[in-house]
Amino acid sequence: MSSGIESVLTETRVFPPFPNLVEGAAISGMKEYQALCDEARQSPDDFWGRLARENLNWTKPFSQVLDESEAPFYRWFADGEMNVSANCLDKHLATPTANKTALIFEADDGKVTSVTYKELHARVCKFANGLKSLGHQAGERAIIYLPMSIEAVVAMQACARLGIIHSVVFGGFSSKSLHERTVDVGATLVITADEQVRGGKSIPLKNAVDEALSMGGCEAVSHVVVYKRTGGPVQWNEGRDIWMNALSEGQSDQCEPVSLNAEHPLFILYTSGSTGKPKGVQHATAGFLLWALLTVKWTFDAKDSDVFWCTADVGWVTGHTYITYGPLAAGLTQVVFEGIPTYPNVGRFWEMIQRHKVTVFYTAPTAIRSLSKAAEGSPDYHPREYDLSSLRIIGSVGEPINPEAWMWYYTNVGRERCPVLDTWWQTETGAHMITPLPGVTPLKPGSCTLPLPGIAAAVVDEAGEPLESGKGGFLVVQRPWPGMIRTIWGDPERFKKSYFPSELKGAYLAGDGAQCDADGYFWIMGRIDDVLNVSGHRLGTMEVESALVSHSLVAEAAVVGRPDATTGEAVVAFVVLNGPLPEGAEAAKVAKQLRDWVAKEIGPIAKPKDIRFGENLPKTRSGKIMRRLLRVVAQGESVTQDVSTLENPAILDQLSQAW
Ligand code: WTA
Repeated sequence: MSSGIESVLTETRVFPPFPNLVEGAAISGMKEYQALCDEARQSPDDFWGRLARENLNWTKPFSQVLDESEAPFYRWFADGEMNVSANCLDKHLATPTANKTALIFEADDGKVTSVTYKELHARVCKFANGLKSLGHQAGERAIIYLPMSIEAVVAMQACARLGIIHSVVFGGFSSKSLHERTVDVGATLVITADEQVRGGKSIPLKNAVDEALSMGGCEAVSHVVVYKRTGGPVQWNEGRDIWMNALSEGQSDQCEPVSLNAEHPLFILYTSGSTGKPKGVQHATAGFLLWALLTVKWTFDAKDSDVFWCTADVGWVTGHTYITYGPLAAGLTQVVFEGIPTYPNVGRFWEMIQRHKVTVFYTAPTAIRSLSKAAEGSPDYHPREYDLSSLRIIGSVGEPINPEAWMWYYTNVGRERCPVLDTWWQTETGAHMITPLPGVTPLKPGSCTLPLPGIAAAVVDEAGEPLESGKGGFLVVQRPWPGMIRTIWGDPERFKKSYFPSELKGAYLAGDGAQCDADGYFWIMGRIDDVLNVSGHRLGTMEVESALVSHSLVAEAAVVGRPDATTGEAVVAFVVLNGPLPEGAEAAKVAKQLRDWVAKEIGPIAKPKDIRFGENLPKTRSGKIMRRLLRVVAQGESVTQDVSTLENPAILDQLSQAW
């Protein structure tokens, strides 16, 4: 758990809601919020049933709200039918939203392209017809490995329209990770681009797909559809590969959305767990969209006039919920950004807010921390140099936001007139769970405040008993909600074990530690398992360990997290080589080799910041690695704990040297 916790627990500042945001808000005032919470508690089925009828268009109405007969495999609205793409696009066509801008795409080099809802609908239909012409249909799985682009949204929406279950793989993942996911999901289709462009540099994507598909086990993939982003060189596999624009060309701009069962999987998104193998988190059609849409309405208090900008990549859940699905279902205009916040300079985000008159801005603490540092060093690109007066709400997601970063964001970006919404949620929860509401919640820097109506969040002990305020414990959700994970793709046992351990009396175990204060506010204290959070990206320590030990030089490895002022946590690896202990230049060389290896095996985000070599690892006499001690060593502190159970205490000194 991070060292920010002490400062969090002594935080006493409170910021009441801004009166101009209370009036007319989707949920306006504490009384209205409480009334919704009460309705949900007293009669959850009526509550969720009402919201599902009011917010979604059904092709076949449901007769049952929640089916708990096979809990924890909950089923929502299970005999109903609908289509997600129809609920994001078609439903706007007969309204003035049809001619409203849906996406404002800004490329890495600053070029802007916009599409209206009507145009986006036509592009999705054409592409879906193209996929159909290749023989792809509902129930198949598609890997999407695309850069941030209008095409990425088109590809996901087209899959949803046909009932093809997409699994988006972040463009920063290596061919090895891509291969692993392609095999696990049993993909028949891959949608990618020739290259992606970030910070002025082109990085190949199609090559990585070719590499992944040649690794074996992907024989089911019959087509690779390629979006031409740069025109850079690609290998071409006749009969399998097809250009995205060629596929859409000449297709009809009408494509009947497939009426799908509410529980039909909408997507599978891989995320890290505490074992080496990433988990394919499976989300369902109706429940996911309902929760995505409701949270856009409630948390961001969506208004027709909003220009919404979520800076996440569609490779992560935030990009699914708050780019591809939620904002479109709400009919919002949104900004989609291809590049990085530091190119061509560190004012890029602020300049884009100014240029596109963004009203709701949603980003990650890691971006806030690094941009605040950068802004202090480059006064010309400080947010105060830009006109940010269009903003009314600013949000944060992905990791705890420490009070210092919160205050900087609130003061310099929000100019003390926009609430900072610290939204707690996970890939598994589908959308926000615990978050302030602009028209309701007094803010406390560092707290994600209160659960949304219908979300029975609690802090409990090992036996599932609720803890009193001020006591740290496990964050759980005691009642199911529509946007929740349905299962882990191909591994229902792991789903049950990871999220519904029997001790917790049927509650959903989030994997985070938390505590509530006397006002019932939640304070998240970091992961309770072997999952790290590096720049808001989830990373299993075991994943990095298995990548390291798969290198021929490595005999053994242990990976821990260390608090980091910019990235939240940093990866520190303790490595035992097969050969002698390396020193000096040799150690630095091997460390670099191993870092590059991890980047190739998983992706650059997993690269260890520090590598320490030792002749052994600190182990108990029974051979268990003492990670607790490694965490202390990783922080550069001296070990004061009792090490009498250690077989080899001297090893700790050796391991304190970084390369
Ligand atoms: C962490 C991202 C504190 C948490 C949407 C969670 C947070 C994990 C917050 C999920 C927050 C996310 N405050 N911690 N506001 N939001 N986390 O699946 O540890 O990529 O379990 O989903 O990020 O990460 P994931």
